[in-house]
Amino acid sequence: MCGIIGYSGPLEAKRLLIEGLAGLEYRGYDSAGIAFFDTVSQVRLVKQVGKVAALKETCEKLQGSSHCGIGHTRWATHGGVTNANAHPHQAGRITLIHNGIIENYHQLTEEFGLQDKLVSQTDSEVAAHVLDHFYKDDPFTAIQELVRRSEGSYAFCILFADRPGEVYAIRKTSPLVAAYTHSGALIASDLTALIPYTHSYFVVPEGELVRLTPYKVQTYRLDDLSKTQPETMTVNWNMDAAMKNGFPHFMLKEIHEQPEAMKNTVLPRLSKGLPDLSEDGIPDALFLSCSQVHIVACGTAMHAGMVARTIMEPLLRIPVTVTIASEFRYQQPLIDEDTLVIVISQSGETVDTIAAMGLAKAYGSKTLAIVNVKGSTIARESQYVLYTHAGPEIAVASTKAYSVQLAALYLITCRMALVRGRYTNEQAVTFLQEFLDVIPAMEDMIRRKDEMKAVVSHIINSPDAFFIGRGLDYAFSLEGALKLKEISYIHSEAYAAGELKHGTIALISDKVPVIAIATQDDIFAKSMSNVREVKARGAFVILVTKEGKDVSADLADVHITIPAVQDIFTVFPIAVVLQLIAYYASLGKGLDVDQPRNLAKSVTVE
Ligand code: F6R
Repeated sequence: MCGIIGYSGPLEAKRLLIEGLAGLEYRGYDSAGIAFFDTVSQVRLVKQVGKVAALKETCEKLQGSSHCGIGHTRWATHGGVTNANAHPHQAGRITLIHNGIIENYHQLTEEFGLQDKLVSQTDSEVAAHVLDHFYKDDPFTAIQELVRRSEGSYAFCILFADRPGEVYAIRKTSPLVAAYTHSGALIASDLTALIPYTHSYFVVPEGELVRLTPYKVQTYRLDDLSKTQPETMTVNWNMDAAMKNGFPHFMLKEIHEQPEAMKNTVLPRLSKGLPDLSEDGIPDALFLSCSQVHIVACGTAMHAGMVARTIMEPLLRIPVTVTIASEFRYQQPLIDEDTLVIVISQSGETVDTIAAMGLAKAYGSKTLAIVNVKGSTIARESQYVLYTHAGPEIAVASTKAYSVQLAALYLITCRMALVRGRYTNEQAVTFLQEFLDVIPAMEDMIRRKDEMKAVVSHIINSPDAFFIGRGLDYAFSLEGALKLKEISYIHSEAYAAGELKHGTIALISDKVPVIAIATQDDIFAKSMSNVREVKARGAFVILVTKEGKDVSADLADVHITIPAVQDIFTVFPIAVVLQLIAYYASLGKGLDVDQPRNLAKSVTVE
């Protein structure tokens, strides 16, 4: 959350910072600001409520050039959305931007007597004052003191008024990446801001100080200030991947990218028709030694886990549990050395998932992370990593990341079944052949997007919508409901269809949209009975089944069919259907599809 960028170099800093912030806006977008050294080496500050585009307009009117500065796009944690609470914050000779939460800011406010000095309600301004208090011409010492006193998570980029051309940074938990390029020295909360200038970067190690000058990015150990040399990494996508490329929204583009992302994630891991994770450094022993699997994640990633649980448990015949990471981290989970803990995260920076993984390690469990962003915290800290290859996901609502997380989970399931003797080679080959059929099925649903577009006129004027399904169909429904509510603001909930009559059916009345998913052959008749129950109470039923199903005309107001892939794989075409319904609902209501209110892409605060 919160996008951060810092720059020192020959280019016009204001423009570079604004362009960087536009790329980082998906991390938070309630206000934005930049600070820079102007032509007479004074720090100037521009910040305002609203999107980066508004800040850009203001900055275009500014005279003079600049070659060093910092920029921030905010997702509010402490204090409302106001100009005063927008970053950067200033105190004395300090100007800083912050991502994270300083948990002891009340205590610091008292300790340093800041009550009457603060002009914002933010923890970040408190940090600026503490830093200013300790700044006696040596930035390193002042930062050491700030770090010593701060509890919580942070990524700070700091300008010291008497040090033009220099940007200082430090982080704990919250991510920062940096690079020295032909265009100068750059630091940012994520790669999208660096990619236009370089493909080589390093992850700022925790507990190391960074100094950017026009000629260098240097890191130092925080304790003795000795120089360090973080490992250089390379990113394998280019700026094109992070552009809309003719699509009106990132979300639609990313929905379209799913078949390709699936191929990139699955095909390199097939060998002689069997799943092979050896190139990823994942040994079979990991799958053999475990007596249970515990999946931990948040939001959409957790929903991928829910689907995986439903296929893994009956196939592997071992307990598979799914827990929301923010709950898991404060529980005393029943895990041990024989537990395989699978953490799932697109960004690899979700703070609750990071903490949950830390807890799993403390219990001695083995950790396997399914992550999209290379070099992210979860990827670095997990014992084993299976990267998904979706490329950058920019829309706040996750789409292609969900599909490839599922793909990774299906590969793991198949490999586990094989090494645990639950599958013969032939069965594993068949599983994967049938699995690959989902790619054309997804393409088919993408081609048929107008069917989903047509359906939303029956949804967007309703305050509520319900998703129902049984078994796997219920697991898919959870994601469908999340997608719809987060970008259309329609209150939508998913229910296990058989559970409806135990309370929820009271909410079904005339024309309430019910999206009923019924793709599982063995429980199809049962699902139809539940559809009949809501129909009898006046619901507007949008029924999704595999093609070839005999559905009586009075049962569904709209009937969408997906290609007849095997039951355990229907999630892939269904995901496309549900994503498109959410997309067109948001569009139909004239909302900001890619940046829905109150949300941000990567959740780096608790
Ligand atoms: C919803 C969505 C979120 C994320 C969740 C976890 O569309 O994107 O629910 O899935 O915040 O994020 P990652 O996968 O980055 O850990």
